[in-house]
Order: sequence, then C-alpha cells, then structure tokens
Amino acid sequence: MFSEIKEYLDDPIEAFQLRLKNDKNPNKLDLGLGIYRDEAGEVATLSSVREAEQRLASRPTDKGYRSPMGNAVYIERMEKLLFQSSLENQPEMGVQSIQTPGAGAGCRVGAEFVKRLSPTSRVWASIPNWGHQLEFFENAGLELKYFPYYDLENSRFQFSEMMSALEEMQEGDVLLLHGCCNNPTGQDPSLEQWRAIAELCSSKGVLPFVDIAYQGYGDGVDEDLLGMQLMASLVREMIVVVSSSKSFTIYRERAGLLSLISNDKAGSLNNAYRLLRDVARGNYFMPPDHGAEIVAEILGDEALSAEWRQELDVIRERIYSLRALLRDTIEAMDPSQDASYLVQQKGMFSCLPLSPEQQMEMEQKYGIYMLPNARINFAALAKDKAERVAKALLAIKNNNN
Ligand SMILES: Cc1ncc(COP(=O)(O)O)c(C=O)c1O
Repeated sequence: MFSEIKEYLDDPIEAFQLRLKNDKNPNKLDLGLGIYRDEAGEVATLSSVREAEQRLASRPTDKGYRSPMGNAVYIERMEKLLFQSSLENQPEMGVQSIQTPGAGAGCRVGAEFVKRLSPTSRVWASIPNWGHQLEFFENAGLELKYFPYYDLENSRFQFSEMMSALEEMQEGDVLLLHGCCNNPTGQDPSLEQWRAIAELCSSKGVLPFVDIAYQGYGDGVDEDLLGMQLMASLVREMIVVVSSSKSFTIYRERAGLLSLISNDKAGSLNNAYRLLRDVARGNYFMPPDHGAEIVAEILGDEALSAEWRQELDVIRERIYSLRALLRDTIEAMDPSQDASYLVQQKGMFSCLPLSPEQQMEMEQKYGIYMLPNARINFAALAKDKAERVAKALLAIKNNNN
C-alpha cells in the first residue's frame, strides 16, 4: 500500500524546517517557529506553571479516564476567564464547552461539528492565513472561500476589501477569525471593526468561528478577549476555540477549549453539546489531562493567577520592545522607510514586506529563515539580532527596487 505514494511534496512549513535543518551555516537565524523564546533563545516555562506542577506532583492523584469532554475543572475555570463578563451582561447567553488537545484539535472538531450539522456550509478564511488552520477545515470536508485581509507588499490591513468580499457570504456559512494577535500578520481589527464584522454576520446568518491562540500577548489577558466578547453579544450563535499552549507555555501538553455560544440558551444548546462530545470521542476518544490540570491549578488560585498574569505582562512588554527596536533600526538605517506597522500590530508575528523570491534570498544570502509570507516571530529575534535583520531586509529591498 505504501508504495502507492510515488512522490510526496512537503507542505511549506515542513519544507521550511527541512531547509533550516540542512543549512550548515553556524549563524543561521530561525525567526520562523511560533513559540515564545526568551532573550537567551530558550523555550522557557513560566514559573507559575512550574509551581502548579510541583503542587500537582505533591498531591495524591489517580490516572483514571476522564471523558471525551476532558477536564471539567479546566473547562469551568477557562469559561470563567473567557466568558464571565458576557454571561453576567447577557442573560440569554449560554456556553457549553469541551477541553480539546489544543486549539488545533479544537478547530478540527469544531469543523467536523459544522460539517455534520450543515454539510454545504462554506468556511471563509483570510488571505494570508496560518496554513495548518485551513487544513483542519478542509480535512473535515468543508469548502473554503477566501477574503483579502492584509496586503503583504504594502503592509496594510485591507479592512474595506475584506468587508466587500464578505458581502458574498450566505446564510449558514462560517467566518473564521483570529480572536487576537493574528497569525501570521499580527494585524487585528479594532473594536469598531469587530462590531461591523459581527453586524454583518448577524444580518447574514453566518456563524463566526473565533480562534484565540495568543491570549495575553496582545494588549492583556482581559483586553485580548474584547473583540470576541463583542462578537458574542451581537450574533445568535458562535464557536470559540482557545489555546492554552502559548498563554501558559505548555505547548506539548495539549490543552485547549472549544466553546459553543448561543444567545438562546433555552434552545438547542444542550443537544449541540452532545453532538460535539460525540464528534470529539470519534476523533481521539479523550484529550490528555496534564496541561488542563496545570491551567486549572493556576486559574483556581488567586496568587498563582496573579503571578501568571504578571509573567504574561513581561512577555508582552518584551515583544513590544523588540517590535519597536526593529522598527527604529530599519528607519534609522533608511529614513525613507515607514516601518510603523511593526508597532501597530499585536503579538509575536509580523509579515515582512518581502516577495517569496526575496524571502529565499534572505535565507540563502543572509541565513535568516522565516515562515511562508515572510512571517517572523519577534520572540525569536533577541535584541542583538535586530541590526542584522534590518540590514538584510534593506539590502534586499533596496537592491531590488
Ligand atoms: C491561530 C492559531 N490557532 C491554533 C494554533 C494551535 O494551537 P494549539 O497548540 O493549542 O493546538 C495556533 C498555533 O500556532 C495558532 O496560531
């Protein structure tokens, strides 16, 4: 059977990793992978997470099965973190959630849930987008449609183009949005723009599907939820997927939340939840528990929660200072450049204004590696690398102009 595969093309992210691995240049610089690294380049674990793990290890525990819905305490505390203020203000709103093995699995299960209920729904995704995210929807058998979101060449949010394209959405379609710190562009809508998107979804009967993977990396733990919460107050139903990977630095532990929101909680929310449970069980049976236990421990303890929030403040401020440093370095080297987009965007990522050919030149001439769409991760930049990146970027841009 395996010999049926004659040739297999790696997807762009796998191909990038292979090129990086095979490059023997000792000074190669990996700005690609989307995890948080500290100034020393280490994938550091938050001390609130280490403290939570120690507490868990010191307690008697069993390793019995939980359920396809995962860890109930994690669900309860995550729901409180995400939706408490909305639930207080919207008496008709109901939320039902499951714990998933991360937001990736949440997208996949959410996509299959939609496919089961509405097989002809189309999923509207931005150009550019995080490639892996689209696979989850395609693999569930849903048709993808695209809308312009960000002009890579001119580093510009294409909000009006996006809204015109979304006029084509039909009732029952799904609109895929990133709740904060857009991957790959770092470009988030303002609250006013969130409102306009929500009103469009509401008038067209479109289901928003909001993926929040970087809570705390944009404006703050609570502030990063405002767009999603505004959306939840204006539409009838929506799906929200949240990752605990980056916000708690527990990437490989695999914990995330998938929530069904309805502003008619007396309606079919409970049946929808049972379908969601069955879809999850049919995919992976049950999610792993350790990451969910860590998060539940932190969120259930006031002091530990405060420490976690402070640690995210430090991460966020460091990322912002690296954004400002790269902007200042580029503009100081070439005053004709306007790199202000770097400090207006949120979270770890930005796309540098480089064509695919120019991006390859960055790799081959300067050993600087980025993900597709010239996406860089500021957390991988470190202070002493900004000059090297700015120099290479300007050399390539100015040569080719
Ligand atoms: C937008 C987005 N959603 C989901 C994920 C995956 O998150 P998790 O590790 O929770 O599966 C990522 C990770 O890069 C992401 O950027």
